Amino acid sequence: MEIKKATYLISNADFKACPKPDRPEYAFIGRSNVGKSSLINMLCKNNKLAKTSSAPGKTQLINHFEIESSQKHAKGFSRWYLVDLPGYGFAKIAQSTRRRWEQMIENYLRKRENLINVFVLIDSRHEPQKIDLEFISQLDKWQIPFSLVFTKTDKEKPAVVARNIEAFFAILRSSWQFLPQHFVTSAEKNLGRDELLSFIEQKNESIA
Ligand code: GTP
Ligand code: MG
Repeated sequence: MEIKKATYLISNADFKACPKPDRPEYAFIGRSNVGKSSLINMLCKNNKLAKTSSAPGKTQLINHFEIESSQKHAKGFSRWYLVDLPGYGFAKIAQSTRRRWEQMIENYLRKRENLINVFVLIDSRHEPQKIDLEFISQLDKWQIPFSLVFTKTDKEKPAVVARNIEAFFAILRSSWQFLPQHFVTSAEKNLGRDELLSFIEQKNESIA
């Protein structure tokens, strides 16, 4: 699959105001500054599409991007949505603002009917973080399909990245029956792009 066209559509604070749920939707979430917006830009080959920033807390709303893709098989959706979500665990905001963000994200994740998969981004430079583990446990409890995306792999030695990913799965293995699918990426080096796009293509076909 290749992305033919990617355009920014709209930003909302409320899932109810999001575009009509008439096509598959894929959302990107993870800690603030983990690289969500950069990954979306890498997938769409457009560095100006989603706003990125070296300062955490850049993305504050539910941002919809309209995608048009070419597929290998005629069957399947060729129009779908990518969604850039605000990061969790951003310390430098007021408690009340944080609660509002959390409620906005929870409502979106639990109620958005066309949401096919959530990509949870994890910074590959760090050992497993409690906040990420708690977030995916929450998704599991809510029965929301998700996969893991390890980001920024160009910033660390391959052995460190491998060790951190292995440590993450070691924790999951101790309590989970099924392990989530995962992707290893670098927005800087275009790593993991084909794998992510094939995954989305397969989903677009299997639900058509
Ligand atoms: P918020 O919207 O604030 O939650 O952040 P975000 O998760 O959207 O992160 P964003 O894409 O804005 O990236 C944060 C910083 O990390 C930026 O300075 C990016 O250039 C950098 N970055 C993101 N992905 C990569 C990567 O794969 N490699 C490297 N070297 N830098 C990256
Ligand atoms: Mg962002």
